[in-house]
Amino acid sequence: PLKAIIFDLDGVITDTAEYHFLAWKALGEELGIPFTREFNEELKGISRMESLEKILAFGGKQNKFTNQEKETLAARKNSHYRRLIEEITPNDILPGIREFITAIKQNGIKIGLASVSKNAFTVINRLGLVSEFDTIVDAATIQNGKPDPEIFLRAAEQLGINPGTCIGIEDAEAGVAAIKAAGMFAVGIGDENRLAQADLIYHSTTELRFDEILNAFVAKSN
Ligand code: BG6
Ligand code: MG
Repeated sequence: PLKAIIFDLDGVITDTAEYHFLAWKALGEELGIPFTREFNEELKGISRMESLEKILAFGGKQNKFTNQEKETLAARKNSHYRRLIEEITPNDILPGIREFITAIKQNGIKIGLASVSKNAFTVINRLGLVSEFDTIVDAATIQNGKPDPEIFLRAAEQLGINPGTCIGIEDAEAGVAAIKAAGMFAVGIGDENRLAQADLIYHSTTELRFDEILNAFVAKSN
C-alpha cells in the first residue's frame, strides 16, 4: 500500500528551476560560455559543484580553473540565486500543488522532501510549507546526488517505511532516474520524451490528481 509521496522541490513545488537557470546563465555569460535552455535540462536535479563542472566542460573550460577558483565560481552563482529566492512568497507555490498536498493528507499519506539543494529549507520556509512535510532530507548529508537513489532512500528511511510504498515526483531526468533506482513509483512533471522513464507523466502541476496517481500506483504494484 501507498505510504508516502516524496517531492523534489525545484521545478515541482515552485519554479526555482528557472532561478537556478538564470543564476547559472549569468555566470556562464561572465565566463564566455553560451547557455541554452536545452543544455540547462541536463543541470536539473544536479548538485551545485557537479553543475559547474558540466558547464565548464560544455564550454571546453574544464581545465582552466583550480579547485579553489571553482569554489569561488559556485559561490558566485549561489549568491545570485539567493538574491532571486529572497523574493519568494507563498504565491509562488505552483498551481495545483496546494490542492494536491491537501488530498495527500486527507488520505493519511505521508509527505517527504528530497531536494539536493542546500537552499531547499530556505525556499520551503519562504513558501510557508515547512509544516506540511513529515520529513525533509538535509542535502548537506547526502554523499551521492541524483541520479543516485540515495536521497529518495534516505527520505523513506527517515519516514521509517519501505521504498516500495513510496511515490516520487520529479521534473528532472536525473531525478526520475533516482526515483526508479530507489525502487519507487515515479511521477514526472514535464516533457514525456525526456522523462520517459517515469511511470506516469504530467505536463504541468495543474494536472496532478491524487486519485489517478494512487490508481496507477496500485495497478503497477499488482
Ligand atoms: C536541485 C536543482 O534541486 O538543486 C539544481 O534542480 C541545483 O538545479 C541543485 O543545482 C543544487 O542547488 P543548490 O541550491 O544547493 O545550489
Ligand atoms: Mg527539480
